[in-house]
Amino acid sequence: MEFVAVAVAGLVGSFCSTLSPTTELAWVNRLCSRGDIASELGSFLSPNANIHFPRSEGFLESTNRWSTLGTPNISVVVEVANENDVAETIKYANTHSLPFLAVNGGHGAISSLEAVNNGIQIWLNQLNSISIAKDGSTATIGGGAPSKHITETLWAENKQTVTGICECTSLIGPGLGGGHGALQANYRLVADQFVSLDMVLANGTLITVDENSDLWWGMKGAGHNFGVVTSITSKICDVPHNGLWSYTNFIFTHDKVEVLYETINEMLLPDQPQDIISFSFFTNIPAIDPENSVVIFFILREGKEAVGSEYTDPFTNLAKWLRMEETSPPCQKEGNTQLRFPVDLQEFNPTAQHAAFDLFSKTANEAPALAASLFLLEGYSIQGVKVIPADSTAVPNRDANLLISSYLVYKPDGEGLDTKAWDLGENMRQILFKGSGQEHMYSYVNYAAGNEGPRSWYGYEPWRLEKLRALKEKYDPEHRFSFYAPFD
Ligand SMILES: Cc1cc2nc3c(=O)[nH]c(=O)nc-3n(C[C@H](O)[C@H](O)[C@H](O)COP(=O)(O)OP(=O)(O)OC[C@H]3O[C@@H](n4cnc5c(N)ncnc54)[C@H](O)[C@@H]3O)c2cc1C
Ligand SMILES: *[C@@H]1O[C@H](CO)[C@@H](O)[C@H](O)[C@H]1NC(C)=O
Ligand SMILES: *[C@@H]1O[C@H](CO)[C@@H](O)[C@H](O)[C@H]1NC(C)=O
Repeated sequence: MEFVAVAVAGLVGSFCSTLSPTTELAWVNRLCSRGDIASELGSFLSPNANIHFPRSEGFLESTNRWSTLGTPNISVVVEVANENDVAETIKYANTHSLPFLAVNGGHGAISSLEAVNNGIQIWLNQLNSISIAKDGSTATIGGGAPSKHITETLWAENKQTVTGICECTSLIGPGLGGGHGALQANYRLVADQFVSLDMVLANGTLITVDENSDLWWGMKGAGHNFGVVTSITSKICDVPHNGLWSYTNFIFTHDKVEVLYETINEMLLPDQPQDIISFSFFTNIPAIDPENSVVIFFILREGKEAVGSEYTDPFTNLAKWLRMEETSPPCQKEGNTQLRFPVDLQEFNPTAQHAAFDLFSKTANEAPALAASLFLLEGYSIQGVKVIPADSTAVPNRDANLLISSYLVYKPDGEGLDTKAWDLGENMRQILFKGSGQEHMYSYVNYAAGNEGPRSWYGYEPWRLEKLRALKEKYDPEHRFSFYAPFD
């Protein structure tokens, strides 16, 4: 059942009257006895906005999430059609002391989202417009636009901007936490592309934030904590080399793990060439090795017909393409639990790599339910990322070379399996962290499981959290935005 705003006012009464008076749904009881969102909020919403109640198609579609970790408890969805709808929904939520959460691609998976209880979901899917400025240097992109739509629209005009590498996430979801992507070596992070943001604050006020605002610093790296972004003006650029990329890939068996990561250290780190991305993951391919996991390793190169023997010669050969399309397994929302335990590294410790690999391999053997899991080791070039002064945004640890995280996937099957998966992910990153000799564990906020804590997400320099907390007091003193990796 869907309610179109203009028609809703009278409908909720009949909606409530269709329900059995003994319904067990607590939210229905609350909704129908509280007065109702449809008549109170509906008349303030634009004609294309919708209110979706549980069990309706729109509700199920919009609350379907990538992972069961971090599932917020949502009692009603407001599908907004413009920024004013966002403002009105927030004011309504404030009046009724209800929590609210902006939802975009639905790929946020951090345990802190579970604190949303009886919440109003602000669904941004209609905010997907894209317009390219006349001078071709920027594009204004709706706060709910998915990466694939953005990339395709820009490409049609021979333009591009930095997005995450998956087609299914939004641009702003990753961007508010920094945002890593294939183009970062030349163009920096997703957040570094922002020119201005239109957003709605916790009290329902619409503002435009740009470099002249004190909030600008916080929006780039910790932006989930300050407002709902309805539109982004982002830098764009011409697509160079006709968008040419090449790649080579390899599969290594367990006996090659140490030498592989030693070779990557020597060949690619610490000054990875600007046109090179290295990417590897641990996975299970019984046809290749029924007893042990294997490592798949890619080298990608921008602007060249082939990666080039100077990079590929040291590595042995086999094949399979990086699977990150919309239809690929990592993008799907199929009721799986998907857990990530990120840790930033400067370089590989081959011995620790081997130990982490062995644990992954052993656990997959013992618990076949976890066998579809991966362990990702992303080595984007960071030359462009380091150009931005470290203290100029809320993104911490800009000079980390490697973004590491497990990606444990399984059908939920009780606490035993959850514990096993959680232990595997946490233990693997602890092995790599200890092996690194690094002083602090940094965990990329957009991959975080939720147990790492604010310093791990936002930086260990005390001034960083102090600065974030001061902005919080100014822009969100009631702490209404405190569900995605909160620091308060
Ligand atoms: C398959 C896959 C691939 C990924 N690839 C990359 C990658 O290449 N690079 C990278 O950096 N990260 C990547 N990530 C991580 C990604 O950054 C996070 O999962 C991110 O939260 C996804 O955003 P979303 O819009 O899809 O999810 P959502 O769950 O809709 O959003 C995440 C959180 O962001 C907030 N939010 C979203 N939109 C807005 C808005 N307009 N205004 C205010 N707050 C908002 C909400 O609070 C929400 O809880 C990937 C994740 C997955 C699952
Ligand atoms: C959401 O919370 C309410 C109580 O606040 C509870 O009755 C309901 O079962 C919860 N929904 C889910 C899906 O857990
Ligand atoms: C909303 O919050 C902002 C930031 O704190 C403040 O400047 C503005 O005056 C507030 N608006 C209202 C209507 O309270």
